[in-house]
Amino acid sequence: IPVDPFDFIIFGGTGDLSERKLLPSLYYRQCGHQFSEPTRIIGTSRAKMTDAEFQAFAKKAISQHVKPADVDTKELESFLARLSYVSADATTGAGFDKLKKAIGDSDRIRAFYLAVAPALFGDISHQLKEHKLITPNSRIVLEKPIGRDLTSARALNDAVGDDFHESQIFRIDHYLGKETVQNLMALRFANALYEPLWNSAHIDHVQITVAETVGLEDRVTYYDKAGALRDMVQNHILQLLCLVAMETPSSMDADAVRDEKLKVLRALKRINGNEAPKHTVRGQYRAGASAGGAVKGYVEELGKTSDTETFVAIKAEIGNWRWAGVPFYLRTGKRLATRVSEIVIEFKPIPYSIFGESAGPIFANQLVIRLQPDEGVKQFIMIKDPGPGGMRLRQISLDMSFAQSFQGRAPDAYERLIMDVVRGNQTLFMRRDEVEAAWKWIDPIQNAWESARQEAQGYTAGTWGPSASIALIERDGRTWHESN
Ligand code: BG6
Repeated sequence: IPVDPFDFIIFGGTGDLSERKLLPSLYYRQCGHQFSEPTRIIGTSRAKMTDAEFQAFAKKAISQHVKPADVDTKELESFLARLSYVSADATTGAGFDKLKKAIGDSDRIRAFYLAVAPALFGDISHQLKEHKLITPNSRIVLEKPIGRDLTSARALNDAVGDDFHESQIFRIDHYLGKETVQNLMALRFANALYEPLWNSAHIDHVQITVAETVGLEDRVTYYDKAGALRDMVQNHILQLLCLVAMETPSSMDADAVRDEKLKVLRALKRINGNEAPKHTVRGQYRAGASAGGAVKGYVEELGKTSDTETFVAIKAEIGNWRWAGVPFYLRTGKRLATRVSEIVIEFKPIPYSIFGESAGPIFANQLVIRLQPDEGVKQFIMIKDPGPGGMRLRQISLDMSFAQSFQGRAPDAYERLIMDVVRGNQTLFMRRDEVEAAWKWIDPIQNAWESARQEAQGYTAGTWGPSASIALIERDGRTWHESN
């Protein structure tokens, strides 16, 4: 369904995110016929560039980041015709008059997308206000990281909040745009099967793994200052945890969902200095083999010594009635054995076996929600091993694979999120209080690491992280689900 015409202004228009995600996603939405006339896309950054040069940049981005079979010459032409470019500098305000002229004074929807370093969020927002570019129909989109701790996040939120109303601020967590992440809500709230079991009476523990095989990529400066806790746990992993743990919202209305997520974040038990060594593991990859070849260690890739963690595992606990006594084991890292993001819900063992030892072990039921790749849901259950050999038990899985069940391309998270910005739907975006509540839980962990000098333990690239991560869960008599 086409949306109303809009102006989409990308700050950092010639940057990496614009090239890899925003322009390709907008192109796909053009092909999906969601744009009505006269929708326009305006790139802006400090670099001097003509409209034609920006269009050439977009064309190249699309040729590199859109499947060749999806590049349609006519659609591409119409897409490029929507593009223009204005050079602007938020620190001085230079170029904002030109931007104002380019946008004109229509009351069309305006989305200002800030694909720039967070240090510029406040400046850009203030310049937009000063140049009277903010209309009631305007929205601002902030890319992570929203701060590096609670104090800096508050400062960013205050700065942008001076100029935009909270209902106009869209804080992106691209995990929320992933089909399979949204499917978590469908699984929980469109089925009667799970909800009665979804609590500490029936669930033993939960595992959330976001494993990557990539290393530093080209983000040296940012990543070395952030580390895995800030880069992945504060946002993506805590958002996943919220979707698993929250109470049923009264509707899919943005605030109904976000109120419930916020309650989970607030109920997370603080990990203080004494608990950090037992509840958390920091790791950093050393040279090894990944994705079929030899790879350097983090420090060699970086070119200087560093104690930044590229892996983190945490035993988290939620202090409320539903989840008391149910640990949530979280882990994420770069250069791990395989690329996989999944959530494992492990149910409690049966209370008593009638089968005797000869039937073999009885494994607890597991529900495995695979977010990427090979998106799908598996329910592990015990069955009788077929055959005349008596009662022997075996674990099998009921499988639902998205690729097998649904044909066609799975849209990128950004496609959905960009269109939600235009539609003004904030359900899949983080509200200010959520971001700050997440930092409130992260900060004590980061502080505990710093004050106790809890060093990042080395792990060989291509493995599952430091052995301490295995010990973290095995101490409790449990094991990480083997992803394959
Ligand atoms: C980003 C992180 O938010 O998410 C990156 O900054 C990480 O470090 C990326 O690689 C992972 O996203 P995806 O969609 O590839 O799982």
